[in-house]
Amino acid sequence: MNKVLDKNEIEMLVRRYLKETGVSLAKRAAKREYIVAANWKMNMTEKETKKFLKELKETDIADNIRVMIFPPYPYLYIFKEMLRYEKIAYGAQDVAKEEQGAYTGEVSAAMLGDMGCPLTLVGHSERRSYYGDTSEIVAKKAKAALEHQISPMICIGETLEEREGHRYQEVLKEQLDAVYAGLGSRISGCLIAYEPVWAIGTGVIPTLEQISETHKYIYQVLRSYGVAGEEIRILYGGSVNAGNVKEIGSVRHVDGFLIGGASLKAESFKHIIRLASEV
Ligand code: 13P
Repeated sequence: MNKVLDKNEIEMLVRRYLKETGVSLAKRAAKREYIVAANWKMNMTEKETKKFLKELKETDIADNIRVMIFPPYPYLYIFKEMLRYEKIAYGAQDVAKEEQGAYTGEVSAAMLGDMGCPLTLVGHSERRSYYGDTSEIVAKKAKAALEHQISPMICIGETLEEREGHRYQEVLKEQLDAVYAGLGSRISGCLIAYEPVWAIGTGVIPTLEQISETHKYIYQVLRSYGVAGEEIRILYGGSVNAGNVKEIGSVRHVDGFLIGGASLKAESFKHIIRLASEV
């Protein structure tokens, strides 16, 4: 006779399922799935979030596409409830570097892990420039996430001044080296998002040559740490929209996108998902 599970047992199974989905995200990504990720930043309301997810759930998502959404913390629970068995992954926009304690306003990796959250962004340029997240802090946050089976998406990128001063490779390497110093070989469990600061929210896009050269450079730095080529996933972010997604997506070593503004409307995000599947 089948045993009837009580509420706690069901909850435990669901948590295990969500955790397993999270742990395997980086591995699954290694199967050359194309990642289309949304960073909502400090936007959207509860009502808008529910409406957005309802629309997204009704959309056919091609097999080669993995959708990820990073909403504000208070809405994560909606993702947990509405996306229980969906192919759409979700994550936090940041995580504390500390394990627990007197850190008012922070949310720990253990807490995110508790609610079955499989992903988190770390090191977004807005965190680095407005909240003083240094590369060492970013490394600690990524480590805290991994310790709770949460895959970090590490954002790196140079400013316009650094690009124009031809120092961008140096800057990107410093940002990656710090993570490698903190994580060692576990860096292979991270996704990387290259977001030139000067392209974020500006409508300015690097040339395809610049994207190609920079992604190749990042790939080579990761390879120099011993990360296997098939484990490396580098997303491009900065003014991505339906008009440029196919062009950028066709560049070698671009494994997906991290999208801000154009991910806030379901219609526009769905359009990008569709176009990305045709790359
Ligand atoms: P935009 O797509 O609005 O330029 O933002 C990019 C970004 O910062 C995603 O993390």
